[in-house]
Amino acid sequence: DGTPLSDLVRVPTREVQMRALSDPEIYQLEMDRVFGKTWLLLGHESEVPNSGDFVVRDMGSDSVIVARAKDGNIHVSLNVCPHRGMRISTVDAGNTQIHKCIYHGWAFKPSGEFIGAPVEKECMHGKMMPKEDLGLPQARVTLYGGIIFATWDLEGPSFEEFLGDAKWYFDTLFERSDKGLEVLGPPQRFIVRANWKAAGEQSAADGYHTLTLHRWLGEVGNYSKSGEGGSADLSPEMYGVEVSSPHGHALRCIDLGRKIRKLTGLDPAELTVDQKLEALPPPGMTHEMLPQLRKRLSEEQLEVMVSMPPQVGGIFPNVLFAFVYIPQADGSVLGLTLLHAYVPKGPDQLEFVNWVLAEKDAPQELKDKMLMQSIQLFGTSGMVEQDDSDTWPHMTLAAKGARGRRSTLKYQAVYETGAPAGWPGPGIVNEGFTKDDTQWHWWLYWNELMNAKA
Ligand code: FES
Repeated sequence: DGTPLSDLVRVPTREVQMRALSDPEIYQLEMDRVFGKTWLLLGHESEVPNSGDFVVRDMGSDSVIVARAKDGNIHVSLNVCPHRGMRISTVDAGNTQIHKCIYHGWAFKPSGEFIGAPVEKECMHGKMMPKEDLGLPQARVTLYGGIIFATWDLEGPSFEEFLGDAKWYFDTLFERSDKGLEVLGPPQRFIVRANWKAAGEQSAADGYHTLTLHRWLGEVGNYSKSGEGGSADLSPEMYGVEVSSPHGHALRCIDLGRKIRKLTGLDPAELTVDQKLEALPPPGMTHEMLPQLRKRLSEEQLEVMVSMPPQVGGIFPNVLFAFVYIPQADGSVLGLTLLHAYVPKGPDQLEFVNWVLAEKDAPQELKDKMLMQSIQLFGTSGMVEQDDSDTWPHMTLAAKGARGRRSTLKYQAVYETGAPAGWPGPGIVNEGFTKDDTQWHWWLYWNELMNAKA
Protein backbone atom coordinates (compact mmCIF):
# COMPACT_ATOMS: atom_id res chain seq x y z
CA ASP A 1 0.00 0.00 0.00
CA GLY A 2 2.87 2.33 -0.71
CA THR A 3 4.89 1.67 2.45
CA PRO A 4 8.38 0.61 1.45
CA LEU A 5 9.43 -2.83 2.66
CA SER A 6 12.28 -1.21 4.54
CA ASP A 7 9.79 0.77 6.66
CA LEU A 8 7.85 -2.22 8.02
CA VAL A 9 10.27 -2.68 10.91
CA ARG A 10 11.09 0.77 12.29
CA VAL A 11 14.39 0.26 14.01
CA PRO A 12 14.86 3.69 15.69
CA THR A 13 11.46 3.55 17.45
CA ARG A 14 11.24 -0.26 17.83
CA GLU A 15 7.91 -0.60 16.03
CA VAL A 16 6.52 -2.97 13.41
CA GLN A 17 3.80 -1.99 10.98
CA MET A 18 0.81 -4.24 11.44
CA ARG A 19 0.21 -4.89 7.76
CA ALA A 20 3.19 -7.22 7.94
CA LEU A 21 0.78 -9.65 9.68
CA SER A 22 -1.57 -10.15 6.74
CA ASP A 23 -0.33 -8.59 3.49
CA PRO A 24 -0.33 -11.20 0.67
CA GLU A 25 2.64 -9.57 -1.14
CA ILE A 26 4.74 -9.66 2.01
CA TYR A 27 3.75 -13.28 2.50
CA GLN A 28 4.90 -14.14 -1.01
CA LEU A 29 8.26 -12.45 -0.42
CA GLU A 30 8.65 -14.33 2.87
CA MET A 31 8.37 -17.63 1.08
CA ASP A 32 11.54 -16.76 -0.87
CA ARG A 33 13.49 -14.60 1.53
CA VAL A 34 12.71 -16.28 4.87
CA PHE A 35 11.50 -19.82 4.16
CA GLY A 36 13.71 -20.16 1.08
CA LYS A 37 16.83 -19.13 3.02
CA THR A 38 16.71 -20.41 6.59
CA TRP A 39 16.98 -23.86 8.17
CA LEU A 40 13.49 -25.28 8.78
CA LEU A 41 12.26 -27.92 11.21
CA LEU A 42 10.74 -30.91 9.44
CA GLY A 43 10.51 -33.61 12.09
CA HIS A 44 12.62 -36.12 13.97
CA GLU A 45 14.57 -39.05 12.62
CA SER A 46 12.64 -41.40 14.92
CA GLU A 47 9.62 -40.75 12.66
CA VAL A 48 11.44 -42.48 9.78
CA PRO A 49 13.50 -45.23 11.45
CA ASN A 50 13.60 -47.74 8.55
CA SER A 51 14.72 -47.69 4.94
CA GLY A 52 11.82 -46.41 2.82
CA ASP A 53 10.00 -44.73 5.72
CA PHE A 54 8.79 -41.27 4.78
CA VAL A 55 6.72 -38.34 6.00
CA VAL A 56 5.44 -35.45 3.90
CA ARG A 57 6.08 -32.00 5.36
CA ASP A 58 6.27 -28.36 4.24
CA MET A 59 9.17 -25.98 3.74
CA GLY A 60 7.26 -22.72 3.50
CA SER A 61 4.88 -23.18 0.60
CA ASP A 62 6.78 -26.18 -0.81
CA SER A 63 5.69 -29.71 0.01
CA VAL A 64 8.65 -32.05 0.58
CA ILE A 65 9.15 -35.78 1.04
CA VAL A 66 11.34 -36.56 4.07
CA ALA A 67 12.54 -40.12 3.49
CA ARG A 68 15.16 -42.56 4.73
CA ALA A 69 17.03 -44.08 1.79
CA LYS A 70 18.65 -47.52 1.60
CA ASP A 71 22.03 -46.09 2.66
CA GLY A 72 20.43 -44.95 5.94
CA ASN A 73 20.60 -41.24 5.13
CA ILE A 74 17.60 -38.95 5.34
CA HIS A 75 16.77 -37.05 2.15
CA VAL A 76 14.44 -34.11 1.70
CA SER A 77 13.07 -33.96 -1.86
CA LEU A 78 10.70 -31.47 -3.45
CA ASN A 79 7.34 -33.24 -3.67
CA VAL A 80 6.73 -32.08 -7.22
CA CYS A 81 6.97 -34.28 -10.30
CA PRO A 82 9.37 -32.80 -12.89
CA HIS A 83 7.15 -34.12 -15.71
CA ARG A 84 4.03 -31.94 -15.32
CA GLY A 85 4.24 -30.71 -11.74
CA MET A 86 1.91 -33.19 -10.05
CA ARG A 87 2.36 -33.73 -6.31
CA ILE A 88 4.17 -37.06 -6.08
CA SER A 89 3.24 -38.23 -2.61
CA THR A 90 -0.37 -37.49 -1.78
CA VAL A 91 -0.33 -39.16 1.64
CA ASP A 92 1.11 -37.93 4.95
CA ALA A 93 3.42 -40.84 5.74
CA GLY A 94 4.27 -44.42 4.81
CA ASN A 95 7.00 -46.79 3.64
CA THR A 96 8.04 -47.36 0.05
CA GLN A 97 11.17 -47.72 -2.10
CA ILE A 98 9.26 -46.30 -5.07
CA HIS A 99 7.46 -42.97 -4.99
CA LYS A 100 5.30 -43.18 -8.08
CA CYS A 101 3.50 -40.17 -9.55
CA ILE A 102 -0.19 -40.99 -10.06
CA TYR A 103 -0.48 -38.85 -13.21
CA HIS A 104 1.77 -40.65 -15.75
CA GLY A 105 3.67 -43.01 -13.47
CA TRP A 106 7.19 -41.57 -13.27
CA ALA A 107 8.95 -43.16 -10.30
CA PHE A 108 11.56 -41.92 -7.80
CA LYS A 109 13.67 -43.46 -5.04
CA PRO A 110 13.49 -42.26 -1.39
CA SER A 111 16.72 -40.41 -2.24
CA GLY A 112 14.83 -38.47 -4.92
CA GLU A 113 16.70 -40.15 -7.80
CA PHE A 114 14.68 -40.86 -10.92
CA ILE A 115 14.01 -44.58 -11.43
CA GLY A 116 12.12 -44.64 -14.70
CA ALA A 117 8.90 -43.98 -16.60
CA PRO A 118 6.22 -46.31 -18.00
CA VAL A 119 6.81 -47.52 -21.59
CA GLU A 120 10.18 -45.81 -21.50
CA LYS A 121 11.81 -48.42 -23.75
CA GLU A 122 8.80 -49.08 -25.97
CA CYS A 123 7.80 -45.51 -26.76
CA MET A 124 10.52 -43.03 -25.83
CA HIS A 125 13.09 -44.36 -28.33
CA GLY A 126 15.98 -43.21 -26.19
CA LYS A 127 14.81 -39.62 -26.39
CA MET A 128 14.31 -39.11 -22.64
CA MET A 129 16.63 -36.78 -20.80
CA PRO A 130 19.41 -38.47 -18.84
CA LYS A 131 18.08 -40.01 -15.62
CA GLU A 132 20.42 -37.91 -13.48
CA ASP A 133 18.68 -34.78 -14.81
CA LEU A 134 15.23 -35.99 -13.81
CA GLY A 135 15.69 -36.44 -10.06
CA LEU A 136 13.77 -34.42 -7.51
CA PRO A 137 15.42 -31.21 -6.26
CA GLN A 138 17.17 -31.89 -2.95
CA ALA A 139 17.25 -29.65 0.10
CA ARG A 140 20.33 -29.52 2.30
CA VAL A 141 19.69 -31.64 5.40
CA THR A 142 21.13 -31.80 8.88
CA LEU A 143 20.27 -33.72 12.03
CA TYR A 144 20.56 -31.97 15.37
CA GLY A 145 19.83 -34.21 18.34
CA GLY A 146 17.98 -36.35 15.79
CA ILE A 147 15.78 -33.40 14.78
CA ILE A 148 15.59 -32.98 11.03
CA PHE A 149 16.29 -29.51 9.67
CA ALA A 150 16.59 -28.63 5.98
CA THR A 151 17.21 -25.56 3.83
CA TRP A 152 16.98 -24.67 0.16
CA ASP A 153 20.00 -22.39 0.60
CA LEU A 154 22.63 -24.88 -0.55
CA GLU A 155 25.55 -22.47 -0.21
CA GLY A 156 24.35 -20.53 2.84
CA PRO A 157 25.43 -20.71 6.48
CA SER A 158 25.83 -24.12 8.09
CA PHE A 159 23.24 -25.10 10.68
CA GLU A 160 25.82 -24.41 13.41
CA GLU A 161 26.46 -20.94 12.03
CA PHE A 162 22.71 -20.36 11.82
CA LEU A 163 22.28 -21.26 15.51
CA GLY A 164 25.27 -19.10 16.47
CA ASP A 165 25.59 -18.35 20.19
CA ALA A 166 22.20 -19.93 20.86
CA LYS A 167 23.69 -23.38 20.16
CA TRP A 168 25.49 -23.28 23.52
CA TYR A 169 22.07 -23.25 25.21
CA PHE A 170 20.23 -25.49 22.72
CA ASP A 171 22.86 -28.20 23.30
CA THR A 172 21.73 -28.41 26.93
CA LEU A 173 18.30 -29.44 25.64
CA PHE A 174 18.85 -31.37 22.43
CA GLU A 175 22.36 -32.81 22.77
CA ARG A 176 22.45 -33.66 26.46
CA SER A 177 21.91 -37.43 26.41
CA ASP A 178 23.71 -40.36 24.77
CA LYS A 179 20.77 -41.76 22.81
CA GLY A 180 19.00 -38.47 22.25
CA LEU A 181 15.33 -37.75 21.92
CA GLU A 182 12.53 -39.58 20.17
CA VAL A 183 9.06 -38.56 19.07
CA LEU A 184 6.10 -40.03 20.94
CA GLY A 185 3.40 -40.78 18.38
CA PRO A 186 2.74 -38.84 15.19
CA PRO A 187 2.69 -35.05 15.55
CA GLN A 188 -0.65 -33.45 16.23
CA ARG A 189 -1.74 -30.89 13.64
CA PHE A 190 -4.43 -28.27 13.48
CA ILE A 191 -5.21 -25.24 11.37
CA VAL A 192 -5.38 -21.75 12.86
CA ARG A 193 -6.75 -18.87 10.80
CA ALA A 194 -3.79 -16.62 11.50
CA ASN A 195 -0.62 -15.39 9.88
CA TRP A 196 2.40 -17.53 10.85
CA LYS A 197 4.24 -14.53 12.31
CA ALA A 198 1.58 -13.92 14.97
CA ALA A 199 2.64 -17.26 16.44
CA GLY A 200 6.26 -17.05 15.25
CA GLU A 201 7.15 -13.87 17.12
CA GLN A 202 5.42 -15.19 20.26
CA SER A 203 7.70 -18.22 20.06
CA ALA A 204 10.64 -15.86 20.59
CA ALA A 205 10.31 -16.30 24.35
CA ASP A 206 7.21 -14.23 25.08
CA GLY A 207 6.55 -15.22 28.67
CA TYR A 208 4.72 -11.95 29.36
CA HIS A 209 1.40 -13.20 27.94
CA THR A 210 1.34 -16.09 30.39
CA LEU A 211 0.30 -13.79 33.23
CA THR A 212 -2.90 -12.71 31.50
CA LEU A 213 -3.80 -15.08 28.67
CA HIS A 214 -2.95 -18.22 30.66
CA ARG A 215 -3.94 -16.77 34.03
CA TRP A 216 -6.05 -19.83 34.75
CA LEU A 217 -2.79 -21.74 35.17
CA GLY A 218 -2.35 -19.92 38.45
CA GLU A 219 -5.95 -20.29 39.52
CA VAL A 220 -6.91 -23.90 38.93
CA GLY A 221 -5.31 -27.31 39.07
CA ASN A 222 -1.77 -28.17 40.01
CA TYR A 223 -0.25 -24.95 38.71
CA SER A 224 -2.15 -23.00 41.35
CA LYS A 225 0.11 -24.67 43.89
CA SER A 226 3.28 -23.70 42.08
CA GLY A 227 3.32 -19.96 42.74
CA GLU A 228 5.00 -18.64 45.86
CA GLY A 229 2.48 -19.04 48.67
CA GLY A 230 0.09 -20.83 46.29
CA SER A 231 -1.09 -17.51 44.81
CA ALA A 232 -2.50 -17.03 41.34
CA ASP A 233 0.32 -14.63 40.54
CA LEU A 234 2.51 -16.38 38.01
CA SER A 235 4.96 -13.51 37.67
CA PRO A 236 7.60 -15.04 39.97
CA GLU A 237 7.58 -18.02 37.59
CA MET A 238 8.61 -15.73 34.75
CA TYR A 239 11.66 -14.13 36.34
CA GLY A 240 14.96 -15.22 35.00
CA VAL A 241 17.30 -14.52 32.12
CA GLU A 242 16.40 -13.83 28.48
CA VAL A 243 18.78 -14.75 25.69
CA SER A 244 18.36 -13.15 22.26
CA SER A 245 20.23 -13.98 19.11
CA PRO A 246 21.16 -11.97 16.02
CA HIS A 247 19.53 -14.82 14.05
CA GLY A 248 16.21 -14.40 15.83
CA HIS A 249 16.50 -17.41 18.13
CA ALA A 250 15.41 -16.88 21.74
CA LEU A 251 15.53 -18.55 25.12
CA ARG A 252 13.72 -17.89 28.35
CA CYS A 253 15.81 -19.22 31.22
CA ILE A 254 13.80 -19.42 34.43
CA ASP A 255 15.03 -19.53 38.01
CA LEU A 256 15.11 -23.15 39.19
CA GLY A 257 16.15 -22.31 42.74
CA ARG A 258 12.55 -21.45 43.70
CA LYS A 259 11.32 -24.84 42.59
CA ILE A 260 14.11 -26.70 44.35
CA ARG A 261 13.40 -24.80 47.56
CA LYS A 262 9.67 -25.38 47.32
CA LEU A 263 9.78 -29.05 46.39
CA THR A 264 12.65 -30.25 48.53
CA GLY A 265 12.89 -27.70 51.31
CA LEU A 266 16.60 -27.45 50.52
CA ASP A 267 18.46 -24.19 50.10
CA PRO A 268 19.86 -24.17 46.54
CA ALA A 269 22.68 -21.87 47.64
CA GLU A 270 23.97 -24.69 49.81
CA LEU A 271 23.86 -27.35 47.09
CA THR A 272 26.48 -28.44 44.58
CA VAL A 273 25.65 -28.75 40.89
CA ASP A 274 25.25 -32.52 41.28
CA GLN A 275 22.98 -32.14 44.29
CA LYS A 276 20.76 -29.71 42.40
CA LEU A 277 20.54 -32.12 39.48
CA GLU A 278 19.57 -34.90 41.87
CA ALA A 279 17.03 -32.68 43.61
CA LEU A 280 15.24 -31.78 40.37
CA PRO A 281 16.42 -33.57 37.22
CA PRO A 282 15.94 -31.76 33.89
CA PRO A 283 12.56 -32.33 32.18
CA GLY A 284 12.21 -35.88 30.91
CA MET A 285 15.43 -37.15 32.51
CA THR A 286 15.65 -39.77 35.23
CA HIS A 287 18.24 -39.87 38.03
CA GLU A 288 19.95 -42.75 36.22
CA MET A 289 20.51 -40.57 33.15
CA LEU A 290 22.22 -37.70 34.99
CA PRO A 291 25.82 -38.96 34.43
CA GLN A 292 25.21 -38.47 30.69
CA LEU A 293 24.88 -34.74 31.30
CA ARG A 294 28.31 -34.60 32.90
CA LYS A 295 29.79 -36.44 29.95
CA ARG A 296 28.24 -34.26 27.27
CA LEU A 297 28.02 -30.76 28.73
CA SER A 298 30.57 -28.31 30.07
CA GLU A 299 30.71 -27.16 33.68
CA GLU A 300 29.32 -23.78 32.60
CA GLN A 301 26.40 -25.36 30.74
CA LEU A 302 25.61 -27.49 33.80
CA GLU A 303 25.71 -24.40 35.98
CA VAL A 304 23.01 -22.80 33.81
CA MET A 305 20.96 -26.01 33.78
CA VAL A 306 20.72 -26.10 37.57
CA SER A 307 20.24 -22.38 38.14
CA MET A 308 18.44 -20.79 35.14
CA PRO A 309 17.66 -23.57 32.67
CA PRO A 310 16.19 -22.63 29.28
CA GLN A 311 12.57 -23.71 29.48
CA VAL A 312 10.79 -22.04 26.57
CA GLY A 313 12.02 -20.35 23.43
CA GLY A 314 12.21 -20.40 19.70
CA ILE A 315 14.34 -21.33 16.73
CA PHE A 316 13.84 -18.77 13.96
CA PRO A 317 11.61 -18.55 12.00
CA ASN A 318 8.71 -20.72 13.18
CA VAL A 319 9.70 -23.15 15.93
CA LEU A 320 8.82 -23.08 19.60
CA PHE A 321 10.38 -25.47 22.10
CA ALA A 322 9.25 -26.15 25.65
CA PHE A 323 11.20 -28.08 28.28
CA VAL A 324 8.94 -27.39 31.22
CA TYR A 325 8.40 -28.61 34.76
CA ILE A 326 4.75 -29.44 35.42
CA PRO A 327 3.64 -29.73 39.06
CA GLN A 328 1.73 -32.91 39.86
CA ALA A 329 -1.07 -33.48 42.34
CA ASP A 330 1.22 -35.57 44.58
CA GLY A 331 3.73 -32.72 44.93
CA SER A 332 6.21 -34.16 42.44
CA VAL A 333 7.16 -32.62 39.09
CA LEU A 334 6.77 -34.08 35.61
CA GLY A 335 9.02 -32.70 32.87
CA LEU A 336 7.57 -32.25 29.38
CA THR A 337 9.58 -31.76 26.19
CA LEU A 338 7.85 -30.38 23.11
CA LEU A 339 8.43 -28.81 19.72
CA HIS A 340 5.90 -26.75 17.79
CA ALA A 341 6.20 -25.56 14.20
CA TYR A 342 3.92 -22.83 12.86
CA VAL A 343 3.81 -23.77 9.20
CA PRO A 344 2.58 -21.00 6.87
CA LYS A 345 -0.48 -21.95 4.81
CA GLY A 346 -1.22 -18.61 3.17
CA PRO A 347 -1.18 -15.04 4.52
CA ASP A 348 -4.07 -15.75 6.90
CA GLN A 349 -3.57 -19.37 7.86
CA LEU A 350 -1.02 -21.54 9.64
CA GLU A 351 -0.77 -25.19 10.49
CA PHE A 352 0.19 -25.84 14.10
CA VAL A 353 2.33 -28.98 14.28
CA ASN A 354 3.05 -30.35 17.74
CA TRP A 355 5.73 -33.00 18.39
CA VAL A 356 5.88 -34.59 21.84
CA LEU A 357 9.41 -35.72 22.66
CA ALA A 358 11.05 -37.90 25.28
CA GLU A 359 14.55 -39.15 25.93
CA LYS A 360 14.99 -42.52 24.19
CA ASP A 361 16.49 -43.88 27.41
CA ALA A 362 13.51 -42.92 29.56
CA PRO A 363 11.32 -45.72 30.94
CA GLN A 364 8.09 -46.42 29.04
CA GLU A 365 5.99 -45.47 32.05
CA LEU A 366 7.52 -41.99 32.04
CA LYS A 367 7.06 -41.64 28.28
CA ASP A 368 3.37 -42.57 28.63
CA LYS A 369 2.87 -39.95 31.32
CA MET A 370 4.69 -37.32 29.27
CA LEU A 371 2.56 -38.03 26.22
CA MET A 372 -0.70 -37.90 28.15
CA GLN A 373 0.04 -34.63 29.93
CA SER A 374 1.50 -33.04 26.80
CA ILE A 375 -1.71 -33.75 24.91
CA GLN A 376 -3.80 -32.49 27.79
CA LEU A 377 -1.89 -29.21 27.98
CA PHE A 378 -0.36 -28.53 24.57
CA GLY A 379 -2.05 -30.68 21.94
CA THR A 380 -4.88 -30.24 19.48
CA SER A 381 -7.39 -29.92 22.31
CA GLY A 382 -4.75 -28.86 24.85
CA MET A 383 -5.72 -26.22 27.34
CA VAL A 384 -2.73 -23.90 26.85
CA GLU A 385 -2.72 -23.69 23.07
CA GLN A 386 -6.45 -23.07 22.98
CA ASP A 387 -5.69 -19.75 24.67
CA ASP A 388 -2.93 -18.80 22.23
CA SER A 389 -4.75 -19.81 19.09
CA ASP A 390 -7.61 -17.51 20.13
CA THR A 391 -5.42 -14.41 19.92
CA TRP A 392 -3.50 -14.95 16.66
CA PRO A 393 -6.57 -14.79 14.33
CA HIS A 394 -7.67 -11.50 15.91
CA MET A 395 -4.23 -10.02 15.32
CA THR A 396 -4.28 -11.17 11.70
CA LEU A 397 -7.74 -9.75 11.11
CA ALA A 398 -6.83 -6.46 12.78
CA ALA A 399 -3.89 -6.14 10.37
CA LYS A 400 -6.35 -5.95 7.45
CA GLY A 401 -8.23 -2.86 8.62
CA ALA A 402 -7.93 0.35 6.60
CA ARG A 403 -6.54 2.02 9.71
CA GLY A 404 -5.39 -1.06 11.58
CA ARG A 405 -2.84 -2.11 8.99
CA ARG A 406 -1.05 1.23 9.43
CA SER A 407 -0.91 0.86 13.20
CA THR A 408 2.33 -0.29 14.71
CA LEU A 409 3.25 -2.98 17.21
CA LYS A 410 5.39 -1.63 20.05
CA TYR A 411 8.58 -3.33 21.15
CA GLN A 412 9.85 -0.58 23.40
CA ALA A 413 9.62 -2.09 26.87
CA VAL A 414 13.12 -3.44 26.78
CA TYR A 415 15.14 -4.07 29.88
CA GLU A 416 18.62 -4.19 28.45
CA THR A 417 19.63 -4.87 32.01
CA GLY A 418 22.59 -6.94 30.94
CA ALA A 419 23.58 -10.38 32.12
CA PRO A 420 23.63 -11.29 35.79
CA ALA A 421 27.07 -11.19 37.39
CA GLY A 422 29.08 -14.27 36.50
CA TRP A 423 26.64 -15.49 33.81
CA PRO A 424 28.66 -18.11 31.95
CA GLY A 425 26.74 -18.28 28.65
CA PRO A 426 27.15 -16.34 25.39
CA GLY A 427 24.60 -14.31 23.41
CA ILE A 428 22.64 -11.13 24.04
CA VAL A 429 21.70 -11.73 27.66
CA ASN A 430 19.32 -9.69 29.81
CA GLU A 431 18.27 -10.37 33.36
CA GLY A 432 14.75 -9.69 34.53
CA PHE A 433 11.15 -10.24 33.64
CA THR A 434 10.30 -11.45 30.15
CA LYS A 435 9.04 -8.71 27.83
CA ASP A 436 10.13 -7.32 24.48
CA ASP A 437 13.79 -7.81 23.82
CA THR A 438 13.86 -11.35 22.44
CA GLN A 439 10.88 -10.69 20.19
CA TRP A 440 12.41 -7.47 18.92
CA HIS A 441 15.53 -9.39 17.88
CA TRP A 442 13.23 -11.89 16.11
CA TRP A 443 11.79 -9.05 14.05
CA LEU A 444 15.22 -7.55 13.39
CA TYR A 445 16.39 -10.77 11.75
CA TRP A 446 13.13 -11.07 9.79
CA ASN A 447 13.75 -7.50 8.60
CA GLU A 448 17.35 -8.30 7.67
CA LEU A 449 16.27 -11.29 5.55
CA MET A 450 13.37 -9.47 3.92
CA ASN A 451 15.56 -6.54 2.89
CA ALA A 452 18.60 -8.58 1.90
CA LYS A 453 19.90 -8.16 -1.63
CA ALA A 454 19.10 -11.26 -3.69
FE1 FES B 1 4.17 -36.94 -12.85
FE2 FES B 1 3.45 -36.88 -15.37
S1 FES B 1 3.14 -35.37 -13.85
S2 FES B 1 4.42 -38.46 -14.32
